[in-house]
Amino acid sequence: MIVAVCSLGGAPGVTSLATALAAAWPSSPVTVPVLVEADASGGDLAAWHGIDLHDSPAGVVSLAAASRTPVPVSLPADVWAEAGVEGASSAHAPLVNHAVELPGGLRVVPAPADPLEAGRAVDVLAHNPSLLRTGRVSVVDVGRAVPGSAGALLVRHADVVVVLTQAGDVGHAARLRACAPILASLREEGARVGLAITGPCPHSDGEVSKVASGLPVWARIPHDPTGAGLVQGEYRPPARLRDRLAAWWSERRDPDSLEWMPLIKAAKSLAELCDDFSGLGLSHEEQKEQDLGMSKEQRDSTVVNIA
Ligand SMILES: Nc1ncnc2c1ncn2[C@@H]1O[C@H](COP(=O)(O)OP(=O)(O)OP(=O)(O)O)[C@@H](O)[C@H]1O
Ligand SMILES: [Mg+2]
Repeated sequence: MIVAVCSLGGAPGVTSLATALAAAWPSSPVTVPVLVEADASGGDLAAWHGIDLHDSPAGVVSLAAASRTPVPVSLPADVWAEAGVEGASSAHAPLVNHAVELPGGLRVVPAPADPLEAGRAVDVLAHNPSLLRTGRVSVVDVGRAVPGSAGALLVRHADVVVVLTQAGDVGHAARLRACAPILASLREEGARVGLAITGPCPHSDGEVSKVASGLPVWARIPHDPTGAGLVQGEYRPPARLRDRLAAWWSERRDPDSLEWMPLIKAAKSLAELCDDFSGLGLSHEEQKEQDLGMSKEQRDSTVVNIA
């Protein structure tokens, strides 16, 4: 399953939310979420976690390079070696082989900071997304997915799309209103699309949904500098809290102990919601009704007062 997290502008916290989402994803022995940073404007994960991509075969550039070659016939490495093909298996390695494992176990595929390099890689991935499906759950940080961008093209391959927006801000609300019809149209292709709202927003979920072409509000992301610091690896708590952090990173499968951080708590609820989508199998109409979460009468009577 591909879960895309994107924004329509600004820096509302996409990388932070995507990281928290992947880290808090409900796990099972066969579920190893991989966080892919496919932000065409350049990545932050490598800098946040001190990863030197020059020294590493991992990252979104290597993933893109592997993605552009056709999916190979699956043959054992010795057969390739006999045929004189060196490194054939690694060239087509599944997603997880392009990931770096953070100290607590979260696997990340970071983007280079250089927008030219990152942009090229995202463009290739958007045209060749099959390797993103080789993981059970790929949480993809798409960055800004404005219509016409490589990010927007990549989003079209997602099963679940989380659009992070500051709906209470006049400019962001106007952009949401303009882009929502295109985002909502992804549902025609079977994707689940919903909003995560950050920043102060006095409007109800129904009010936001109404200006956003009926896209449901899946989450309200609280302002939480501590949680944001945690996902950046910058967290510098007192000793006792540091112990709790270490416990979480080393036992990512049980993030409950960190749910006192509002960002982590919100990400965990959102991850559970997204995970549930994989098994719903609703018809398009049922999906639409459930997403809207209200009757037509309710929708029609909602007062819209955004922006
Ligand atoms: N929920 C939050 N509460 C407080 N601060 C946050 C939260 N989420 C993110 N931040 C902070 O906001 C800044 C931007 O976050 P982040 O890099 O995740 O955003 P982004 O949308 O990915 O931006 P960019 O477009 O630069 O990639 C960072 O300093 C981060 O620590
Ligand atoms: Mg980012």
